[in-house]
Parts: sequence; structure tokens; C-alpha cells
Amino acid sequence: MVKIAPSLLAADLLFLKDSLDAVKEADMLHIDIMDGHFVPNLSMGPGFVKACKRGTELPLEVHLMVYKPEKFLSNFIEAGSDILTVHVESTPHLNRVIDEIKGAGIKAGLALNPGTPLVLAEPVLDQIDFLLLMTVNPGFGGQEFIVGMLEKIRQAKELLQRQKKDIMLAVDGGVHLGNAHEIVEAGADMLIAGSAIYAGNGARGVTDFKDALAKKREK
Ligand code: DX5
Ligand code: ZN
Repeated sequence: MVKIAPSLLAADLLFLKDSLDAVKEADMLHIDIMDGHFVPNLSMGPGFVKACKRGTELPLEVHLMVYKPEKFLSNFIEAGSDILTVHVESTPHLNRVIDEIKGAGIKAGLALNPGTPLVLAEPVLDQIDFLLLMTVNPGFGGQEFIVGMLEKIRQAKELLQRQKKDIMLAVDGGVHLGNAHEIVEAGADMLIAGSAIYAGNGARGVTDFKDALAKKREK
């Protein structure tokens, strides 16, 4: 069964606890951290992660869209991240960064922008637990899924299976009920979705995703 991770970027932050409670049946929570340099937007910081940690029992996956993530790792580790995901494009010291994350006893994720070839993930596949493929250019929620990324998802899945890696393959950006099935068929183990889950009354998304995927499977 595919796993679902709501992206809190799309949640109503005025009612954060309600937004957390509304997605209790999810498998994980996705928190977008933006620095205004790596991506053209700013979002949350370690204080937000800390607040979420107090408000939910779900694991927190923290997606660092920041240059030089090495400067902030300890803050996000202390804040309670369960998975820290760094971008391959964001640091010249990828091995060191991943080592530091793993050394803290938490899981390490690696994210790739849509334009970044999969081959750049290969040197660190032995070190990571989570591979996140961006299917929009990071920086904003509510963008359209880049259809060409389906092939990259297939190739990533094949690579992980060929190398027998126990790495969760996650897809982030533009995921909605209309394309979720195709993305899962291409090989995603986890769907990260912001606007598709939190648009409307906030509680709609996770169950609808699971129902829609189950119905597709029955057909
Ligand atoms: C984009 C973020 C995504 C975003 C997804 O920069 O990394 O996690 O929150 O939002 P939707 O699902 O609305 O595309
Ligand atoms: Zn994200």
C-alpha cells in the first residue's frame, strides 16, 4: 500500500493543531523548509518542526530546500526531525552531510530537482533511507506535476530494485487524486501532497487518496 505524507506548506497555519489532527491517518508528515536562496521563497524553520513534534505522533520528514544544509542540521535534529532530507544540488559535501544526519540516529533522505539526473544519487545510495523526486520545481505549493517525471520515477524504482536497496521512493509536487494512481504505478512508495490534501476543509485528503487508489486497484 502506498504511503501518504501531507505537506504542511498547504495547511492553515492559524489552526496548526487542527491541520495535524485532520491527517492522523497519514503515514508521515512532510515539512518544507525554504531559505529564499536555494528556492525563491521562504517558509518554516526549526521552531515550526518543534511545534509539530508536540502536536502529532506521526513521524516528521523535514525537506531542506536550503543552500549549505550543513549549517542547520543540528537545529533540525534537535527540533525532532525523524527524516532529514537534503538536496543533492545544495551542498558540495553530500557524504559528510548524510553522515552527520545518520550519526544523530535519524534517517537521511536525498532530494533531486526535476532537472537533476538520477545518476547523481548513485554515490550515496548506500547511505540513505529515503529518495525524494521533485516533480515540480521546488519553491511553491500548488504547481502542476511535470508529466515527464513519470519516466524518472520508473528509472529510480528500477535502479533501487536492481541494486537491492531498501530505500523509500517518494514523489513530491503536483500530486493529486487524478494522477496518484499513475505515479504509484510508476513506482512511488510514498506520495507527498500539499494542496490536494489541505485544499477545502482540510480533512478530505488522506482518506480520499487511499480510497481512490484502492478503487483503481479493484478495476
Ligand atoms: C515544493 C514543496 C512541496 C509542496 C507540495 O517546493 O517541496 O512539498 O509543498 O505541494 P503541492 O502538493 O501543492 O504541489
Ligand atoms: Zn517538499
